Amino acid sequence: MDALTESALNARRNAHAPFSHFQVGAALEDDTGRIHTGCNVENATYGLTVCAERVAVFKAISEGARKFTRIAVAADTDVLTPPCGACRQILWEFCGDVELILVNPRGKTETFRLKDLFPRPFDASFL
Ligand code: THU
Repeated sequence: MDALTESALNARRNAHAPFSHFQVGAALEDDTGRIHTGCNVENATYGLTVCAERVAVFKAISEGARKFTRIAVAADTDVLTPPCGACRQILWEFCGDVELILVNPRGKTETFRLKDLFPRPFDASFL
């Protein structure tokens, strides 16, 4: 398992998921090779919950990173957990057609391009 998927699995351990008990980790690699991690952070008003992917993206942007090469998403499911619709939109906005690696704690992985999971996206080109 490579450093990016290991980082996503490690970040998952920090998940704050007292309501769903569904822990997710994400690790986003920028064009300098730096890895930015995130985990899901839930809230008692459930709608304020932020997914692991968005935490990783916003942390990276706030640190000055702007170009991204890969993102790994870790959850403990046998059918590997993909990003939700809102996260696909955010990933498209900041990462474009990024490589997306799904992983579980037993080392199962699957790799996609974002455009295959998020066809015909809305983006700034329409504005
Ligand atoms: N969740 C993520 O963090 N990322 C995903 O890709 C799917 C869902 C979180 C949100 C919530 O805390 C929990 O998983 C259950 O939906």
